Amino acid sequence: MAEKVTPIGNRKNDHIRINLEENVRSGLTTGLERYRLTHEALPEISLADVDLKLPLFGKMLQAPLLISSMTGGTPEAALLNRRLAEAARETGIAMGLGSQRAAIEHPELAGTFSVAREAAPDALLFANLGAVQLVHGYGLEECRRAVEMIDADALILHLNPLQEAVQHGGDTDFRGLAEAIAGVCAALEVPVIVKEVGWGISERTARLLAEAGVSAIDVAGAGGTSWSQVEMHRAPDAFTRSLAAAFVDWGIPTAESIRNVRRAAPKVPVIASGGLRDGVEVAKALALGARLGGMAGFFLRAAAESTEAVVEAIRLVEAQLRVAMFACGARTPEELGGRVIVDG
Ligand SMILES: Cc1cc2nc3c(=O)[nH]c(=O)nc-3n(C[C@H](O)[C@H](O)[C@H](O)COP(=O)(O)O)c2cc1C
Repeated sequence: MAEKVTPIGNRKNDHIRINLEENVRSGLTTGLERYRLTHEALPEISLADVDLKLPLFGKMLQAPLLISSMTGGTPEAALLNRRLAEAARETGIAMGLGSQRAAIEHPELAGTFSVAREAAPDALLFANLGAVQLVHGYGLEECRRAVEMIDADALILHLNPLQEAVQHGGDTDFRGLAEAIAGVCAALEVPVIVKEVGWGISERTARLLAEAGVSAIDVAGAGGTSWSQVEMHRAPDAFTRSLAAAFVDWGIPTAESIRNVRRAAPKVPVIASGGLRDGVEVAKALALGARLGGMAGFFLRAAAESTEAVVEAIRLVEAQLRVAMFACGARTPEELGGRVIVDG
């Protein structure tokens, strides 16, 4: 592929490099360490009984796991997307693509995203756009193009006000966005999921999103990748670096975000992400009421190696989740509900 490096392309490559090379973890923890699942010494089930399958948006997942939205737009990103998608196909889990704005503005970059659909023709794939673009000229037409580009099963709109505000030249006018999201939810042919990017969801935001008619909320809570830390590492000057650095402890931890959405929007399915490190943490998130556990940074590191490394990472998380469920006496993810207890 010709090396057409757009400003968005530069940013995407910076994001991948910084995420792989620098410490970009939030100063907060996910809060999941405060919870323990109830151990059952008499589970009265066989490990072989544990069934991780989950129907979602018309497809059957083999496990309640998601490779969270990450990348696209450059040749390097295309390679990562191919490896992630091959692993999603082999393991039967869901995958989100990174923001497709680069390819909406430069259609010649569409292949760096559609490579995922080619590698995983039957996988549950999510398109992705920055929600704020909906109040900066984007509408239904751009959402449809993102969906069609990868034959997506749903569209994810991401919310990242803080990331936009701590970067040079970010889009910082978020007025009218809830209404614009409602417009897309009402008219788009596929379900609309809204996610954060690592600072979590409050009760107020969850209520606004439920009123807007979203089909699911991915909390992307604090405790994992921190985008103010990423922006700090690519800041062009000391002022911007110090501006971003102040937000290392910002956000709503993942565990609290899941509970916020469950309380404020109990009918909206929750996807848990933000700092999940293993299958035991996924099990805790499911016990708190999430349907699916998503991981980004963890799978990115594996994808930088090979498709096999991603498959192995997924198999490990899956096995940890399976054993956690067995030791709780939970045959299905739904049976995990209410197994969690607060420690201290
Ligand atoms: C390299 C990289 C790129 C990302 N790009 C996007 C993006 O384009 N759109 C989006 O919604 N989220 C994006 N994210 C955020 C993730 O989907 C996720 O919400 C966040 O990283 C928290 O998950 P984690 O702690 O498991 O990394 C990106 C994350 C990483 C690591």
